[in-house]
Amino acid sequence: MKREVVAIVNHKGGVGKTTSSVNIAACLGERGERVLLVDMDPQGSASLFLGVRDDGTSLLRALQGTGALPWMPTSAPGVDLVPSGQELALARERFSGAIGTDLFSRSLARTDGEWEWVLVDCPPGLEVLTINALRAARHVVVPVEASYLGLHGIAQIVDTVRKLAGSGCDVAIRAVIPCRAHPRRRVHREVMKVIESEFPGLVTPVVRESVALVEASGRKRPVVITAPRSPAADDYRAVTDWLVAMLAPGRMS
Ligand SMILES: Nc1ncnc2c1ncn2[C@@H]1O[C@H](COP(=O)(O)OP(=O)(O)OP(=O)(O)O)[C@@H](O)[C@H]1O
Ligand SMILES: [Mg+2]
Repeated sequence: MKREVVAIVNHKGGVGKTTSSVNIAACLGERGERVLLVDMDPQGSASLFLGVRDDGTSLLRALQGTGALPWMPTSAPGVDLVPSGQELALARERFSGAIGTDLFSRSLARTDGEWEWVLVDCPPGLEVLTINALRAARHVVVPVEASYLGLHGIAQIVDTVRKLAGSGCDVAIRAVIPCRAHPRRRVHREVMKVIESEFPGLVTPVVRESVALVEASGRKRPVVITAPRSPAADDYRAVTDWLVAMLAPGRMS
């Protein structure tokens, strides 16, 4: 089965990587797609968002090649989760150097679940766990905070992905998601102009600042379940439609 592997990356913290990963996964599930959401962050935020507590040992073992990728069903239809937790942080010491960058790709290749999509929620920082996700992925999706400061330093991701592509990986930045947007504010249009000029053709519909997303994480369910008719649910549906059209046009229905 052909799987679209998507790394959700931004080395900045708190920009909306986890919120986007969980909610896009749920929107894909709502469209009838089967999704594996991989929590590649020792903070375990995507797991906690879905009400799963895990210490990360099983994922660490899978990366080391001594266990299978641990996945489980979630409350979101169509969405399975590889949970994570603090023990995964040991990967940073154990997997240094080039040998440690293809571990996720290998353990994913050994996993025979029937998913059309694999979404990887990366930790902040361009570290070994993020590089493992990037080396397994064909698509990189970058959530950015829709503010002037949100774009600061983004060149580092562009540079890292370009180097990987130069070394033979079939990977590229395919989408930039403006998160926590305030479309009614006057600066919004200016910020969007800057994002669009930096990433022509790659900017998805915006995700507005919304308390429904914060509430959804508190209720441990994606927003399409906790508030299916909210503007936030519609924003993530629009982003997901855009991603399917651009990343897997054959899957448009
Ligand atoms: N559109 C939004 N509206 C309101 N709050 C949001 C929105 N997107 C994200 N948040 C909130 O911002 C905080 C950070 O979001 P999130 O955890 O998704 O970022 P992250 O990039 O994954 O962070 P980290 O780098 O720590 O993994 C969370 O409290 C989340 O609820
Ligand atoms: Mg996160």
